[in-house]
Amino acid sequence: MKKQLIMGASVAALAALTLTGCSTARSASSSSSSSVSVPKGSTIGVALPAKTSQNWVLAKAAFEASLAKAGFKADVQYAAATNTVPDQQNQISGMVTKGDKAIIIAAQDGSQLGTQVKQAKAAGIPVIAWDRNITGTADVDYYVAFNNYKVGQLQGQALLDGLKAKKASGPYNVELFAGASTDANAPVFFNGAMSVLQPKIDDGTLKVLSGQTTFKQVNTDGWLAQNAQTRMSNILQANYGTATLDGVLSPNDTLGRAIIQANQTAGKTVPVVTGQDSETASIPLIMNGTQYSTIYKDTSVEAQAAVDLVSTLSKGDKPKTVLDKKNNYNGVKTVPAVELTPVLVTKENAVSAYANNPTLEALAKAGQ
Ligand code: GAL
Repeated sequence: MKKQLIMGASVAALAALTLTGCSTARSASSSSSSSVSVPKGSTIGVALPAKTSQNWVLAKAAFEASLAKAGFKADVQYAAATNTVPDQQNQISGMVTKGDKAIIIAAQDGSQLGTQVKQAKAAGIPVIAWDRNITGTADVDYYVAFNNYKVGQLQGQALLDGLKAKKASGPYNVELFAGASTDANAPVFFNGAMSVLQPKIDDGTLKVLSGQTTFKQVNTDGWLAQNAQTRMSNILQANYGTATLDGVLSPNDTLGRAIIQANQTAGKTVPVVTGQDSETASIPLIMNGTQYSTIYKDTSVEAQAAVDLVSTLSKGDKPKTVLDKKNNYNGVKTVPAVELTPVLVTKENAVSAYANNPTLEALAKAGQ
């Protein structure tokens, strides 16, 4: 009975959309959560990007478990490794056409999904950006992610702390890397890190011999390891013939390992390399001192937070969100967000930081 009422309201909202245009429908949906219907037992679409790092690989099982437990069916799809953006666009359109009742999206390219989220909006399907924001559109309803700016701040501070621990005083030679320019997170991570590092560049504590310090200069196409490795090799060759590289700001573990590899190939050791994601391949490197730090963003917790939001919508309730412009402004609006707290991990706290994750905890213990 209740479901029928809710669906009736949704039809009314759609009728309003047809008769009077978007603005009426939008105010209808924001003033009354009953215009959105996400019944228990319905199918929830989850569109994930290409598997460029381990967190995405883990995401599918995390969503399937959380959605099943909350009483929903899961429709999880990855964008293919090639033709990735059109592939994801088609997958999302397909989810709308099939009638998935909510769509959770981790964007391959956050600026290329305007048409698809508009389509979802017109069909009354709530869109939740997950981990990566969707930019340039008002049609994204919610954003669930870790605090990305904080991730960057932790990375910048870890680089400084690591350098100090290896050598009591500067100046230190460092190089900077960022993620893909198509990922809305990448500049936020970088800005967070630079909020800590720029003052130290300005006062001469840090020197960047390549001279490459802007996001435009340091981003890594597609978050691909090969691209970071090539850039690192080129920088070493051009600038570090006799000079010593003391540390590298790496935005995640995959790129961190590529940066370490480039140094090893050049016969060099770089004492401090940061990271993110707590990838199983990087924990042993952190424990043996090859990589200095990573960030723990528990994928299961992040998936659960999105599923909790779907459950809230399903009850017809309003999700609890924050408006955080620095992190979640998408160029059109600050997307109401559920923000989770990232944790910095070094050799010192690895065992306790991973206490909730048997795989990571075992790797940390094995390296002690
Ligand atoms: C980001 C994500 C990071 C990392 C990166 C590369 O959007 O937040 O955790 O995985 O993509 O895939």
